[in-house]
Amino acid sequence: MTTRTIRDLSDADLIGQRALVRVDFNVPLDATGAVSDDTRITAALPTITMLLERGAKVILLAHFGRPKGAPEAKYSLAPVAERLKQLLPRPVHFLGETVGAAAVAATQALPNGEVLLLENTRFLAGEEKNEDALARQLALLGDVYVNDAFGAAHRAHASTAGVAKYCRPAVAGLLMEKELSYLGGALAAPERPFVAILGGSKISGKIDVVEALLPKVDHLLIGGAMACTFFRAMGFETGTSLVEPDRLDMAKALLARAGDKLVLPLDAVIASSMDAGSSARVVGRESIPTGEAMFDVGPASVEQYRALIESARTVLWNGPMGVFEKPPFDVGTLAVARAMAVATGRGATTIIGGGDSAAAVAVAGLESEMSHVSTGGGASLEFLEGKNLPGVSALDLR
Ligand code: 3PG
Repeated sequence: MTTRTIRDLSDADLIGQRALVRVDFNVPLDATGAVSDDTRITAALPTITMLLERGAKVILLAHFGRPKGAPEAKYSLAPVAERLKQLLPRPVHFLGETVGAAAVAATQALPNGEVLLLENTRFLAGEEKNEDALARQLALLGDVYVNDAFGAAHRAHASTAGVAKYCRPAVAGLLMEKELSYLGGALAAPERPFVAILGGSKISGKIDVVEALLPKVDHLLIGGAMACTFFRAMGFETGTSLVEPDRLDMAKALLARAGDKLVLPLDAVIASSMDAGSSARVVGRESIPTGEAMFDVGPASVEQYRALIESARTVLWNGPMGVFEKPPFDVGTLAVARAMAVATGRGATTIIGGGDSAAAVAVAGLESEMSHVSTGGGASLEFLEGKNLPGVSALDLR
C-alpha cells in the first residue's frame, strides 16, 4: 500500500473545488524582511501548478518560524506571499487570517485557477497541540486536502495531521511523493554499493539513524565532531574536541558491532578554536593534542571517503564533516559534496538529507548535480530513523 497522491484524484475531485494544500514555506528572510532562499517555495510549485491546471482553486496553509500560538508580526507569511506572486504566473492573494468566517468566505470567493495563502498556522493556539476543534475549522477551508509539506511531516499538528481526518480525500502532493520515493527507495531497495555519510556535532542526535542505517548500508562514513566521541571510545586523546562522555559506552558497543562497515576519519584538521583557522593543521586521529580540537576531517579521510562515495551506486548524506561555515574547516564537507556530484555523473542515485548538508551543497553550487536534495531536515532524519511521519500516515492509501 502506498500513499495516494494528487495524481490519483479525479476531475470531479478538482474542477471548481477548493484544494487545501499544506506547504512548508518556512524559509529564511534577509535583513530587509524579504525571502532570501526560496528553495522550499519553488519546490511546492509543481503541486500548485498541477492543481490549478486541473481546474481547482488553491488554498495554501503554512507555518513560519516558532511563534507561541498567537500572532506576532515578525512571523507573518506576508513576505512569502510577495515571493510567491513573483514565482507564479497566476493571481496570488494573501489573507491575514487563517480560520474563521472571513477565511472560509475568502476560500469560497476565490475564482478557479487562483491561489490564496492564509496566515501562519502557528498563530493558532491549537495548531501544535493538534487540537481537534482546530482541525475541524481548518477542514472548512477546502474540499480536498493535499499535504506537500514534507519538511513539516514529522510534526503531528492540526494543519499537517488532524485536518486530514475531516477534509477528504486527503492525499500527498508531488513534492511529498518525490521525497518519500527517494528516501524510501534508498532504504527499501538501494542499488549497491550503498554508502551513507553522517556528520554533525553530536552522536546523541544521530544514534537512531546510525542504528537504522547500519543493517542496510555497505559503508557508513562518519564525520563532524561526533567522530570524536568514537575516537575517545577507541582510547584516543581528543583535546578540547566536543565529546559526549555519557555516550562513550554506546560508541564502544557500536564499534564492536559494526565492524568494517563503520568508517571513521583517519585524520583531523585541528586548531585552538574554530576562530583560529589561520593556525589550523592536520594530525592523525590518535594525535589530537591537549588544548586543541578537531574542526574538520583531514586529507587522508577525504581521500578515503571520496573513493568510497565515487564508486557507490547509492549515496545518502546527512550532516557536515566539519565547521563548513568557517573556512578552512569547510574542506571535508565540500569534498563530500563534490564526490557525490561525481557519483551522480557515474549513474549513482545521490540523496542529500536536508538541513546543513543541503546548505553545504548550495554553497558548493552543486544542487543540480544531486539526484535529490531533501527540503526537510528534521523530517528526513526521522524518516531515515524509521519513524512514522504523522503528516504522511494521516493521508489516504491506495
Ligand atoms: C523546518 O524548518 O525544518 C520545518 O519547517 C519544521 O519546522 P519546525 O522545526 O519549527 O517544526
